[in-house]
Amino acid sequence: MTGWTLGIIGGSGLYEIEGLENVRSERVETPWGEPSGTFTIGEIAGVTLCFLPRHGKGHRIPPDAINFRANIDAFKRLGCTDLLSLSACGSLREDYAPGDFVLVDQYVDRTSGRERSFFGPGCVAHVGLADPVCPRLAGLAADAADAAGARTHRTGTYLAMQGPQFSTRAESYLYRQWGCDVIGMTNMPEARLAREAELPYASVCMVTDYDCWRRGEAAVDVQSILKVMHANTGKARRLVVALAKTLAALPRTPSPSGAETALDGAILTAPD
Ligand code: ADE
Repeated sequence: MTGWTLGIIGGSGLYEIEGLENVRSERVETPWGEPSGTFTIGEIAGVTLCFLPRHGKGHRIPPDAINFRANIDAFKRLGCTDLLSLSACGSLREDYAPGDFVLVDQYVDRTSGRERSFFGPGCVAHVGLADPVCPRLAGLAADAADAAGARTHRTGTYLAMQGPQFSTRAESYLYRQWGCDVIGMTNMPEARLAREAELPYASVCMVTDYDCWRRGEAAVDVQSILKVMHANTGKARRLVVALAKTLAALPRTPSPSGAETALDGAILTAPD
């Protein structure tokens, strides 16, 4: 028992890692509906890892149809203490190159029409989101990415777009002017909901492309994303193993993000 139970939301092949022990599958029911798929649960060095493929088995769920609330709720029900997100992203800057790993620490949320709160009429809550990421989990994940042989960037502002189409060139230029570093379709409202669920959250983004702003470079397409992802799956798996081994040796203390007490004082509605 190490005190850590790490949730990992990401690609479907991520849990095919050597050294994962006592592996089992589990379906989790939630009041918010079905999570993206079946959880794969296993242990590395005594740390329990709970994997969920964000887009479901065979990548059938588009970003705008992910049941983010069910996913986050299910991680909580499984007893996860921390949640690591792994996803592909486009780069909005020259020095974040395809194949690099970026630890996102801020978000600009341009998604729309997605359920993004566990609260609503009847119970009003406003959690803080100034610093949406747990610096401890992000730092440990960055160290693990280094150990896995990745070129790692420890900060990055993530533009969360609605999709499913990629951006227009004008949007891509605009997001660069806004100071955003990477772009993706999945981290929001995931990060918001993790905070409402009092779950420390960190996000590792694998750069797969330069979106469509870079002169002389073809605009992003699915084939180029897949090519880079396949070439870097090994690094992502090694990152998970390295992170689990680090956690195994580290007694868990409260997250410096304050995520576990995010709801203290956040609920405005008077008790009945
Ligand atoms: N995921 C990977 N590359 C992307 C891009 N350029 N835009 C949005 N999501 C992405």
